[in-house]
Amino acid sequence: MAWTADQIPNLKGKWAVITGANSGIGWQAARALARRRARVTLAVRNRERGEDAKARILAEVQSAEIDVRLLDLADLDSVRSFAEALVAEGKPLDLLINNAGVMATSYGTTRQGYELQFGTNHLGHFALTLQLLPILAGTTGARVVTVSSMAHQMAKHLDLAYVRGGGRYRRFESYAQSKLANLLFAYELDRRLKRRGLPLKSIACHPGFAATSLVENGMLKSAWAKPLARIVNRFAQPSEMGALPTLYAATHPDLEGGEYVGPDRGSRGYPVVVSSSPASRDLAAARELWSASLEMTGIPRDAWYALEDE
Ligand SMILES: NC(=O)c1ccc[n+]([C@@H]2O[C@H](COP(=O)([O-])OP(=O)(O)OC[C@H]3O[C@@H](n4cnc5c(N)ncnc54)[C@H](OP(=O)(O)O)[C@@H]3O)[C@@H](O)[C@H]2O)c1
Repeated sequence: MAWTADQIPNLKGKWAVITGANSGIGWQAARALARRRARVTLAVRNRERGEDAKARILAEVQSAEIDVRLLDLADLDSVRSFAEALVAEGKPLDLLINNAGVMATSYGTTRQGYELQFGTNHLGHFALTLQLLPILAGTTGARVVTVSSMAHQMAKHLDLAYVRGGGRYRRFESYAQSKLANLLFAYELDRRLKRRGLPLKSIACHPGFAATSLVENGMLKSAWAKPLARIVNRFAQPSEMGALPTLYAATHPDLEGGEYVGPDRGSRGYPVVVSSSPASRDLAAARELWSASLEMTGIPRDAWYALEDE
């Protein structure tokens, strides 16, 4: 039987943080979790868009417990402040959904000077996850869900020299590298958590092809962006369907950690466990990425939450 959001268990008492929750898949996931009574934090880079997203959920789910917090994944200082504030509250966090993303943007850099897509999609989420481990790792049954893409397959292997800024910028290559990095990170995180016996799981997912703002916000930032994005999105499944793999990864009781969830018909359909590219399962590349990401984010290697191997 196809899995739908109706199968999400009652989440009363659970707390979920979703990045990029003001639109697209992140918003749909926030709405579905709020319907099932989770407390949801919308982690967004623009207060107004965040409050609007909150209002749209409250219009449907009057009893929803939602707050909006500012987080710019393209600024590691913002990521640190966001995480520190949550950790300072000292409440157990049940679910972190690393969803925010940009695709095929014109060349740009993060506040700390890293290429924008790799910096936002991977480095920001890497730093966020590790810095939230103090409130995730003590919560039995907690999960970290990281949203990747079928586009990860376009990157035949992780090219660290390229993502560090070497060579000519290619917008789709950078997106593919960032989405491959999402998977390498999600799987490596799960291995490191399991080795330490920590009671949380890391699971990856992808939405297939879903109608969202991704095309318009990324490669098509121009006068004809909106009409063209509308045409492209006509071929996509609705964002509500695109959010199902995220919701399955976040709540399905049978998942053990380390899985990849996507639509059953490739770019569309209902969520099932799917396979990812050989490059995403490369253990040496995952370790190298982890080490490089610690260096690039400035997370101290000797902090317990860096999960560094002895
Ligand atoms: N749609 C698809 O077909 C598809 C396919 C494969 C994978 N994905 C993945 O799905 C995820 C969600 O994308 P979507 O399709 O739902 O697109 P979307 O509607 O454009 O949502 C992306 C979200 O990320 C946020 N964001 C971007 N840069 C950020 C930053 N620096 N700090 C904080 N938030 C930031 C955006 O905020 P603003 O509104 O402020 O820009 C927006 O809320 C992404 O990881 C994407 O790679 C989507």
